[in-house]
Amino acid sequence: MTKVVIITGISSGMGRAAALYFQKQGYEVYGGARRVERLEDLKELGIHTQALDVTDKISTRELVDRAVSEQGQVDVLINNAGYGEFGPIEEVPVENAKKQFDVNLFGADRITQYVLPVMRRQGYGRIVNISSVGSNIYSPLGGWYYATKASLNMWSDVLDQEVKQFGIRSVIVQPGMTKSEWSKIAFENAKKNLTEDSPYTELTDKAEDLFSKISGSATSEQLAVLFYKAATDVKPKRRYYHSISDHGLVLMARVMPNTYRAALNFIMK
Ligand SMILES: NC(=O)c1ccc[n+]([C@@H]2O[C@H](COP(=O)([O-])OP(=O)(O)OC[C@H]3O[C@@H](n4cnc5c(N)ncnc54)[C@H](OP(=O)(O)O)[C@@H]3O)[C@@H](O)[C@H]2O)c1
Repeated sequence: MTKVVIITGISSGMGRAAALYFQKQGYEVYGGARRVERLEDLKELGIHTQALDVTDKISTRELVDRAVSEQGQVDVLINNAGYGEFGPIEEVPVENAKKQFDVNLFGADRITQYVLPVMRRQGYGRIVNISSVGSNIYSPLGGWYYATKASLNMWSDVLDQEVKQFGIRSVIVQPGMTKSEWSKIAFENAKKNLTEDSPYTELTDKAEDLFSKISGSATSEQLAVLFYKAATDVKPKRRYYHSISDHGLVLMARVMPNTYRAALNFIMK
């Protein structure tokens, strides 16, 4: 029987790469994003695309209903849609921070609530949540973004405990710096969030410079393969990492937080 995956945020980056990769593996792929003009070529390839805003109940419900009515099942849900609302904590308007939670955390929850009854009826399912190494490590200006991803980790762990009795598992992928549109959007937001004559302008420039230096060599296509592993491992792990260095950074921040902070202070000097 053909398997079915729903992926949020397939107009660029890892979500788009994952849509193509899962299709290559024989999956029926359902997904969406707000920039529908970017979904045309995916549609032509046979991917089931639609306008999707994960903060909007109607388009979210529509996507799940369509997959279920056309295929009768949902094997995998990938909660990928997300972005960075960077900026100094003193200056990011609370409304912007809330909006980011609405996409990165509540957006994942909204679609998961629609998919879970389907997976429970089936007696199986996998929910793959795209978090970040930035749910454990941190740097200036990412406060609210890291908070959304740390919350997503906790939410996923609790969900996993609740639904494994039904044959459903919830896991986390923690990408490190990966080539996509993410950094550009995060720093456009950081600059937009600065007040006029902000005392954080220099720090913002430094942080942008740091991110451009550590932009990383991982590609969205490589991360798509990791998403697939997280979705299909017979014995799923709680956390998935692309590289040993991503995993090492997370371990350092958790086990030796003072060493991590000293390293960050050194880099930000
Ligand atoms: N790239 C990195 O270095 C990195 C590292 C760690 C974690 N991540 C996480 O990995 C995931 C994928 O990011 P990426 O690197 O592939 O970034 P990206 O190229 O910017 O792609 C983000 C995707 O999310 C979609 N999206 C954003 N808001 C949405 C909304 N309200 N409703 C539906 N879709 C929405 C975007 O589509 P539209 O704008 O068209 O809606 C786009 O397709 C994100 O959760 C990100 O936080 C990225």
